[in-house]
Amino acid sequence: FNITHASYAATAVNSSQYPVGELTEIAFIGRSNVGKSSLINSLCRHNGLARTSGTPGKTQTINYFRLTGKLSDQSRLEFMLVDLPGYGYAKRAQSARATWSKFIEEYWLKSTRLKLVCQLIDLRHPPMESDINVYHWLIEHGLNVQVVATKADKISKSRIQQHIQVITQGINMGQLHPGGRIIPYSAVTNAGRDELLDVIKNILLK
Ligand code: GTP
Ligand code: MG
Repeated sequence: FNITHASYAATAVNSSQYPVGELTEIAFIGRSNVGKSSLINSLCRHNGLARTSGTPGKTQTINYFRLTGKLSDQSRLEFMLVDLPGYGYAKRAQSARATWSKFIEEYWLKSTRLKLVCQLIDLRHPPMESDINVYHWLIEHGLNVQVVATKADKISKSRIQQHIQVITQGINMGQLHPGGRIIPYSAVTNAGRDELLDVIKNILLK
């Protein structure tokens, strides 16, 4: 399964602006600066498609990207990747944080075509309280969640599994999602890309 086409589709801050159509959505969520927009660019092999920044709080709207993937039998699948603003950004004003939760909550409640949430957690650190809370919230609401541990290029290969263990235990994945696996990913080397694309393909074909 590989991506043959990716382009910007729409931006929304409320449900009246959601793109019309039938395409399945795969959303990306995580703390500000964890690497959501970079990961979307890596999956699409298209740097600059989603805007990235070293300063947290870059993405402030819901951004949709339309992708075409090709299967080994040459058939095509079209779907949307959805880039969301980050959570847990302490410096953001209280009022902006309230807005964040409001339109994100609206997105969860009104996006009937949402099939998978990729929750990104920084591989270098144990999960933060906000990561744990969001993971539990997603599972409780019956969403399909794939946890992706980002910035894997910043950890030596020999220590990656140890860090994955810390995150697995920190979010209590063994209990809440037995058999669930965390994918280590690097948007710099594209490590983890094939594995994540495989998860996405299986969701699309379900
Ligand atoms: P917000 O939109 O602010 O919520 O952030 P975001 O989660 O979209 O993060 P973004 O993709 O903008 O990346 C934040 C910073 O981390 C940028 O400086 C990226 O270059 C860097 N970054 C993202 N992914 C990786 C990665 O896999 N490896 C390394 N080394 N740096 C990364
Ligand atoms: Mg972003």
